[in-house]
Amino acid sequence: IDGLQNEKEIVPTGVKIQLIDMLSGTGLSVIEVTSFVSSKWVPQMADHTDVLRGIQKASNVQYPVLTPNLQGFQDAVAAGATEVAVFGSASETFSKKNINCSVDESMLRFEEVINAAKKRQIPVRGYVSCALGCPHEGHIEPSKVAEVAKRLYEMGCYEISLGDTIGIGTPGSMLKMLQRVMKDVPINALAVHCHDTYGQALPNILTALQMGVSVVDSAVAGLGGCPYAQGSSGNVSTEDVLYMLHGMGIETGVNIAKVIEAGSFICSALSRKTNSKVAQARSTA
Ligand code: HMG
Ligand code: MG
Repeated sequence: IDGLQNEKEIVPTGVKIQLIDMLSGTGLSVIEVTSFVSSKWVPQMADHTDVLRGIQKASNVQYPVLTPNLQGFQDAVAAGATEVAVFGSASETFSKKNINCSVDESMLRFEEVINAAKKRQIPVRGYVSCALGCPHEGHIEPSKVAEVAKRLYEMGCYEISLGDTIGIGTPGSMLKMLQRVMKDVPINALAVHCHDTYGQALPNILTALQMGVSVVDSAVAGLGGCPYAQGSSGNVSTEDVLYMLHGMGIETGVNIAKVIEAGSFICSALSRKTNSKVAQARSTA
């Protein structure tokens, strides 16, 4: 969803469904489908129910959706969600702008979501945005990231995705941040979510891998960004992450050619060029 929520023009529901169906056949094990947020805030996600109901769910793929509060959770469950994610922030200002509440208030909302999810045995993932910097506050202390990550983990999130929302981090700041967070949350419960704004996404991911992180978020064709974070253009592209992992001898079970195909489908639907270097190289090869 991070790939499409930032698109100005509303992407037709059928295109979203076809993209997800193509990705389901690539070997990816998790595809974040949509978000149950307010359509006044993010009109692009107004069709969340139709998208979640419309996709062909493969048995070996998880299809989480974002849920900022209990209302979103209930709507998601009604639409058939079997996994959800809450999204918090290590920055107070970003929290206000993105979900209209303070970090403390967001934790109360997430607790409601997590408790409701536990009753239904629905796994909840937790995001910590601005883990390497905030568009409003600038530097964010690693201890603040650790504190928010720990709270989410202790409330019951099975995995915490540390988001470099504006892609401002470097291997240096990634290292420092992870070293601090690892003291409070086990490394096998951590994931990284990198944006490529400053061209640092792959080195940052490599740094995280070397520290023992084994879950990496990405977006096909490097689409995306957060509508409430200026400069968050471009998630790291799935194609480029796969190319690096495969080159390192890490097995992913993902067919990179099929991901490139899904990327060229969505890029032609949106009339734009891919952000994936690998897809660019392969198309001119
Ligand atoms: P609010 O206005 O503070 O909510 O928005 P409220 O509780 O005061 O309610 C106001 C109205 O919104 C009410 O309707 C509610 O029913 C409705 P009214 O009575 O006025 O008709 N409402 C909802 N409607 C639909 N779905 C809901 C919902 N909740 C309340 N779930 C809210 C609070 C969180 C809803 C809003 O701020 C919002 O939707 N924010 C989402 C923004 C967003 O989607 N941001 C991008 C995702 S996060 C991200 O990208 C980070 C990530 O990429 C990682 C990284 O890179 O860091 C994942
Ligand atoms: Mg993001």
